[in-house]
Amino acid sequence: MLMRKQIAAANWKMNGNAQQAEALLRDVMQQKIKLSDDQVVIFAVPFPFLVTANQQLGKEHNYFIAAQNCSSHASGAYTGEVSAEMLKSIHIKYCIIGHSERREYFSETNAQLAEKINLLLKNEITPIFCCGEPLDIREANGQDKHVEAQVQESLFHLAADDLLKVVIAYEPIWAIGTGKTATTAQAQEMHAFIRSVIAKRYGKEIASEVSILYGGSVKANNAGEIFGAPDVDGGLVGGASLVAKDFIQIIQSLKN
Ligand code: PGA
Repeated sequence: MLMRKQIAAANWKMNGNAQQAEALLRDVMQQKIKLSDDQVVIFAVPFPFLVTANQQLGKEHNYFIAAQNCSSHASGAYTGEVSAEMLKSIHIKYCIIGHSERREYFSETNAQLAEKINLLLKNEITPIFCCGEPLDIREANGQDKHVEAQVQESLFHLAADDLLKVVIAYEPIWAIGTGKTATTAQAQEMHAFIRSVIAKRYGKEIASEVSILYGGSVKANNAGEIFGAPDVDGGLVGGASLVAKDFIQIIQSLKN
């Protein structure tokens, strides 16, 4: 069985250029933070930088480059799309899918994300599956139902051994890029709920082995507290991952 990991994942989104990407990666890696076997650091970089970033990283223990998206189609006439097979062929091991920005601006559905999950797993790439509710649903106290449906519709067709290959990122949309983090209690509550939803379908043991990251305004000064919650296994970090010294501190905040 795969071990539950503590993960600091940088989501660079559509920021910077090749030179800035190289400098940012260099600045973080120069810190030479040693990771234990159950700690992982991931940089989700824009497509054009995947190959050079992967070369730059080398074989540093438990450091990986990720893509930020992939196509829900295996191959064919889909101009501008990038397939899971292409990612595999350049040795990419992780891929974010279902980020709320993709769901909102590119109309991605839970069903499409299930297709992406299948293609990624087929190509031995770990999906980082994002879920999370918008503000109006949180205000109406509908967050549990909303997130449960996202998880069920995109993941519950998987056999248990495949589910264990998926990393989940809970990202309340109202906390993304707003500087307004969920409280540690709110994050813990939702993470425990997601684990209970998985337990109902796959059993407690499987549920306890899935890594669930928190995302939404994770910063150097709040990562330690949020990552300290028992069901939070690290974070998916946007804005603060673009500043080397902040992301370094976030990596250092991972549980052992
Ligand atoms: P943020 O973004 O850290 O800038 O809020 C998180 C994310 O969108 O993954």
